[in-house]
Parts: sequence; structure tokens; C-alpha cells
Amino acid sequence: MKGIILAGGAGSRLYPLTQVASKQLQPVYDKPMVYYPLTVLIASGIRAFCLISTPQDIPRFQQLLGDGKRWGISIEYREQAKPEGIAQAFLIADSFIGSDPVTLILGDNIFFGGDAFPRAFADFKSGATIFAYHVTDPQRYGVVEFDAEGRAVSLEEKPAQPRSNYAVPGVYLYDNEVVGIARSLQPSPRGELEITDVNREYLRRGALRVQRLSRGTAWLDAGTSTSLHDASAYVQTIEKRQGMKLGCPEEAALYRGFLSLGQFEALVSAMPVCEYRDYLAELAAEVRRVGIKSA
Ligand code: DAU
Repeated sequence: MKGIILAGGAGSRLYPLTQVASKQLQPVYDKPMVYYPLTVLIASGIRAFCLISTPQDIPRFQQLLGDGKRWGISIEYREQAKPEGIAQAFLIADSFIGSDPVTLILGDNIFFGGDAFPRAFADFKSGATIFAYHVTDPQRYGVVEFDAEGRAVSLEEKPAQPRSNYAVPGVYLYDNEVVGIARSLQPSPRGELEITDVNREYLRRGALRVQRLSRGTAWLDAGTSTSLHDASAYVQTIEKRQGMKLGCPEEAALYRGFLSLGQFEALVSAMPVCEYRDYLAELAAEVRRVGIKSA
């Protein structure tokens, strides 16, 4: 399965932070925001990536992530000239997707905990798989309604009167039909190709699977200065308590077997002396001693 990271948009809610670097390049505690969704997909076994962003931000992402080789993955880049909708990603990345299934993750969605994603990726065969997460403010999101048997029966984008408290987070898995579906979409009243319309089409075809994320999974939003600060505080709290980092692509690549321990050690030695390097060096020493314990 191929992976798309959508990291464009104006980031206007984070002005003036976003005057020189896009939202997804802002720090969430000790790493750039985009490291977190990238790590989620690496941990789920994705190796081929396409990052979509604005023409002015693409060079900055390239500087940060490069071609991905050092993490045992590949990263291509595509420009989105204007933010004309999340579903436009499938048209922009058409040649990258080819005839493969594809996952899309939003570059500002931050997840921790649970093994729902690696499982869903391993189980995926066809159609679409999306997720549902219980929130207090569903009107800000795509909302999914379930019937008494737990089957998804409706999907709405930012409804004024939500039919449930289940929001749809920004991770979506699709078979190759998604490209054709995206091509047939009409822009919504807000002028965007809506991801919710793609999911609705899969629902109409009886090919949509909606998996509820348990309360053990944290889904954080980092779209405003306050929520960005809260996300940083959350990461700091967990990292300090556990002595383990969240959103660390090197670690996920090692656990997933995309990097050998030798390659991982070489990567770590090339880093400047810093707390991040110390963490990875300790991890390498531990893996040398006891092998890989967790993913
Ligand atoms: O966060 C999950 C929600 O994301 C879903 O529940 C909604 O169904 C989905 O529409 C989306 O809602 P948002 O209002 O949060 O989308 P927003 O326009 O803020 O875009 C989400 C991210 O995608 C943001 O970081 C910018 C990026 N983006 C967005 C658009 C519309 C792009 O890169 N290009 C775009 O054209």
C-alpha cells in the first residue's frame, strides 16, 4: 500500500507562526509535527510515500525529510497549488498511486497508543477503511452515525446538528477505486473536493468499513496555538514519564525492519550531539542487548 501525507493548506489559524514555515513543520514538543503522522504510517508498514504541500513549503519538507532513504523508505513530493480539498490529493498523486491501494493521513493529525492502525493495515483487502473517535465537539469534523448493530449508516461533513459524537479522524485506507471516485467528485459549497464525499461513495457501494478507535488511543489536533501547545505538553508528559519517544520515525523504521541495527546505528552517529541522538543511541544499545521488544 502507498502512503500520502497531506501537508498543505494556509495554516492561517496559526499566524504569525506560519509566515515562515507551514503548520506541519511547527514543533510539537521536540519534533516537527509531520514526524508524528509519518511515524504512524511507518509503524503500520508503509514504505512508499508521497508528501503533498504548497509550492512554497515543498522545499522545506524536502530539506527536513529528503528522499526517505535514511529511514529505509521513499518519499516523493507533489505540489498542491491551492487548497482545493483533501480528496484532491488522489488526483495530484495519481501517478504515484498507480494501480495500488493507498492510505492518506493528514499532516496535522497526531495519534498515540493502541494498535488499531497496524491491525487495520494488515487486515485491509478492498473497499475503504476509516476510523471513528468519540469527541465532545463532533460538529468540527466529519461525523459518522451508527445503527443499533454498529454499522455505519451516514456520514456528514461538519454538521450543525451531529447525529453522533463520533468524528472521523484524518487517516483513511482505500483500494485503487479511490482515484476514479475522486475524479468524479464535484466541489462542495465551500469549494473543496471533500474526503467525506469519497467516504460516502464507498458507503453507498457497501464497501466502507468504519472502525471505532478505543479510548486508549489519543487523537490530538494541533491546528490552533492553544491546541498546538496542548499537544506539545501531552507529548512531553508521556515522554518524560516513560522515557520513550512518540513520533520517532527512526525508531519505527527499526522496529518495522526497514533499517537493520547497523544502519540505524550509522544514522544515529551522523546526528549532531543532542537529546534526540542520546535517546536513539540508548535504544540501539538496548536492542543490541535484548533485541527488539515492542513495535
Ligand atoms: O481532522 C479530521 C478532519 O479533517 C475530518 O474529520 C474532516 O472530515 C475533514 O474534512 C478534515 O476537516 P478539517 O476542517 O480539519 O480540514 P482542514 O481544511 O483543516 O484540512 C486538514 C489538513 O489538511 C490541514 O492540515 C490542511 C490540509 N489540507 C487541507 C485542504 C482542504 C491540504 O493540505 N489541502 C487542502 O486542500
